[in-house]
Amino acid sequence: MSFDLVLFGGTGDLTWRKLMPALFQAWRHCKLPPDGRILAVARDERSDDAYRTFIKDKFAEVETAKRPSDDEFARFAQLVHYRRMDLAQPEHYTGLKQWLDARGADVKVFFLATSPHLFTQICAQLGTAGLNGPDVRVVLEKPLGHDLASAQEINRVVRASFTESQALRIDHYLGKPAVQNLTALRFGNALFEPLWRRESIANIQITIAESLGVGTRGDFYDRTGALRDMVQNHALQLLTMIAMEPPAIGDATAIRDEKLKVLKSLKPFTAETVARDVVRGQYKGASVGGEKVPGYLEEAKVPVDSHTETFVALRTEVQNWRWAGVPFYLRTGKRLAARDALIVVNFRPVPHPIFAGITGANKLVIKLQPEDGLELHLLAAKGAGTNEPLSPVKLDLDFDKAFAANRVGAYERLLLDAIAGRLNLFVRSDEQEEAWRWVEPVLDTWRNDSAGPKSYAAGSWGPPSSSALIARDGFVWEEES
Ligand code: BG6
Repeated sequence: MSFDLVLFGGTGDLTWRKLMPALFQAWRHCKLPPDGRILAVARDERSDDAYRTFIKDKFAEVETAKRPSDDEFARFAQLVHYRRMDLAQPEHYTGLKQWLDARGADVKVFFLATSPHLFTQICAQLGTAGLNGPDVRVVLEKPLGHDLASAQEINRVVRASFTESQALRIDHYLGKPAVQNLTALRFGNALFEPLWRRESIANIQITIAESLGVGTRGDFYDRTGALRDMVQNHALQLLTMIAMEPPAIGDATAIRDEKLKVLKSLKPFTAETVARDVVRGQYKGASVGGEKVPGYLEEAKVPVDSHTETFVALRTEVQNWRWAGVPFYLRTGKRLAARDALIVVNFRPVPHPIFAGITGANKLVIKLQPEDGLELHLLAAKGAGTNEPLSPVKLDLDFDKAFAANRVGAYERLLLDAIAGRLNLFVRSDEQEEAWRWVEPVLDTWRNDSAGPKSYAAGSWGPPSSSALIARDGFVWEEES
């Protein structure tokens, strides 16, 4: 199969930090279909060779562990081309069409790695230029809108030129090996599914913690905040995969139908429940590991009186027969104590203890990063006799080690799927809109609340009210257990 992959935003951060390295890895692993071209598109004039040198220099910044040799890069670079385009000019799309038609590849993929405000313009122009035939797919990178209305507007314009199955919305968390493994864990193993319900599970915790701050993205982040940046998409996608019903078949429609049902079953927020069940925080400067790190308000391009949240913890429920009454806690933040993404499924304790000193219960810890693994926590007796307290022990599976040679990074997976037209790992427009519908009352309530976020020290696990939120139900966050 031949393909042309066009990267709009060809000189931007996403392209050189993530997409080009991922394409290079796919090429190096011989996973990229051999008959392909990669066309980077941006505003300024440069030759193919100048662009290739630009990418090669950037690789030195991002690909430290896997840096290509000169010869290897030169062979990869043969696939890479560059074209100047003014995205507002219809004739530039006509020119692009001519360039693509001259070869007539089987598949054309347009990856919009531009600022999101250009998405609608590019999609409309592609449609007008006739670059929307059945051989075309368009890939949209988040953020897709900043609320329900803006997301709907983007979807309306995209739909005017492309069908739903041609529009691939990326949530890069869905490309992470550990996240793909969630479906395998649940639906490829008979072991857990009978227990995967309210009768056996006490609560579920989803944490995506980052140790870094907002870095150079202060202006983007300040308009966005943690709820839009991480909860509306990554955290909710993880929740849907944990809570969904088994689909009848493994195809994209069946899977996405089930995920949508979960989003529709989430307990809606009101102003009262936002005040009670959602905690927002903002990091303040502190000394972390002997190093002074700035607070959010001291970061570049952040207004000194900003109320933007860099941390969110919330409690919700999935209101259906399987999950009624089981709390789901979601938590994410910048400048937290560790870079850690994990899902903890806490099982209920045994109904009638016969051992002295039994504390705790079984839990399954699904680790997404930094390492990708699974821990099953059990209670065991060290010696004989019922008078001895039980000790926690764990079965510890390290997927990075088990599958070391075959691991494929998130963007590599998603780019290969986009070229191959596999839709399972892309977010459908109705899922995306439903997620916005659910977070919107939180955004509205915060807008009208002058109190702003609670501050927390950089290097901590967020404001104390985050622990209080979960303690109210008699539980603790994973790191406190
Ligand atoms: C992005 C957010 O979607 O995900 C960033 O915009 C965040 O703010 C990033 O840092 C986290 O991704 P990962 O893969 O590093 O956990």
